[in-house]
Amino acid sequence: MDVSIKKIADHLEKEVSIKGWVDNFRSSGKIAFIILRDGTGFIQNVLVKNEMSEEEFNSIKDLTYEDVIDIKGIVKENKRAPGGYEILVKQFKIIYHYDKEEYPIQKKDHGVDFLLNHRHLWLRSKKEFATIMIRDEIIKAIRDYMYENDYILLDSPILTPTAPEGTGSLFETDYFDTKAYLSQSGQLYQEAGIFAFRKTYCFGPTFRAEKSKTKKHLTEFWMIEPEIAFCDLNELMEIEEDFVIYIITRIIERQKNNLEILGRNIEDLKKITSPFYRISYTDAVKMVNDGGLKMEWGEDFGADEEAIVSNHFDKPVFIHRFPKKIKPFYMEDDPEDPKVVLGVDLIAPQGYGEIVGGSQRVHDLDKLLKNLKAAGLPEENYKWYIDLRKWGSVPHSGFGLGLERTVAWITGISHVRTAIPFPRMINRIYP
Ligand code: 4AD
Ligand code: MG
Repeated sequence: MDVSIKKIADHLEKEVSIKGWVDNFRSSGKIAFIILRDGTGFIQNVLVKNEMSEEEFNSIKDLTYEDVIDIKGIVKENKRAPGGYEILVKQFKIIYHYDKEEYPIQKKDHGVDFLLNHRHLWLRSKKEFATIMIRDEIIKAIRDYMYENDYILLDSPILTPTAPEGTGSLFETDYFDTKAYLSQSGQLYQEAGIFAFRKTYCFGPTFRAEKSKTKKHLTEFWMIEPEIAFCDLNELMEIEEDFVIYIITRIIERQKNNLEILGRNIEDLKKITSPFYRISYTDAVKMVNDGGLKMEWGEDFGADEEAIVSNHFDKPVFIHRFPKKIKPFYMEDDPEDPKVVLGVDLIAPQGYGEIVGGSQRVHDLDKLLKNLKAAGLPEENYKWYIDLRKWGSVPHSGFGLGLERTVAWITGISHVRTAIPFPRMINRIYP
């Protein structure tokens, strides 16, 4: 039976068999090094001419990137080898070889557009591998947190008749004799869910036809959206903080190798402890103006404004109580100040920007009707949502955490486009 590279430490000084792909190799007549990838990790293989059959040793002269090989050898500790272990090879066989064309991704700097056009192959590279492995662990941590804290998974539909986050960023599609939109957010359906299950969540792809060409925007991204009955803004911030710390702790515990491959400073991640900072929108605007950028009260933060605020803090910061006119219809008013709503964004440190958006929701029937009207949204499209305020309405809150922005922040990569296997952006839908 083959062993996996991930578990190689369990086989120290033992003979193992591994099959996998050639990531890299070099040879000097008497000794050769092959970096092998088996889908669970990368390991260096050392081939010494005198220690194996001459025929097998000589066959490496035909080797190319992505050849599939089958090896047998002894696992050795080697502090200088990537990952700390290597295999001293005894038997070696090439079981798949293709040399009619050169492998497109060579060991040199390719432009990012070229790499994105070859994303189907680029995923095999070490850093892309490490990023996606961490993404997988983050997703697992998210689901575990929800399960351990009694949230019920309530999948929201992806084909929807309405626009929770404003009509400016909708993907429209024909739906028989009417129109449908790809979901911008599953939130409104979670609000139906909590009256049956108290705490629910959805976790799936969401779509925004945003014309933004920034390192934080995708047109298709994944969002986890928990919703909680009997929960106010302060409790919501506590939950968000607990949730984010849970995810970070898990990644520090289980993804050290992949964080190292990406050059992520683990000490920075260890600083992400309770409590996070909390400031009001109004104080944040002051901070931006003091920091040298002009911003009026009532405007939304752009990336530069956000960076000024987050640079004040070495941990995530909550910005709460935004002007009502820049936030969606479903946000509850602040009882102390009707100009602002009980919405909150969580801003990651080191310039990664907003990773979570959430709020306390309007639970009063008349107020909801007023807000819909003010937003120009026709009541008949929201009949079911209005029903939720008629029977058993209670104060409730929820949030959406953007998966790719969270992955980008935790892994330390510079752009959300490589935080997802196949990114969709304003000018990219291939491959
Ligand atoms: O702030 P947003 O728009 O909030 C909502 O959609 C709420 N309905 C969520 C809720 O309360 N249930 O989006 C939430 C998060 C953002 O903080 C960001 O992390 C991510 O989703 N996000 C994007 N990520 C990548 N590309 C985009 N275009 C994104 N737009 C939002
Ligand atoms: Mg937002």
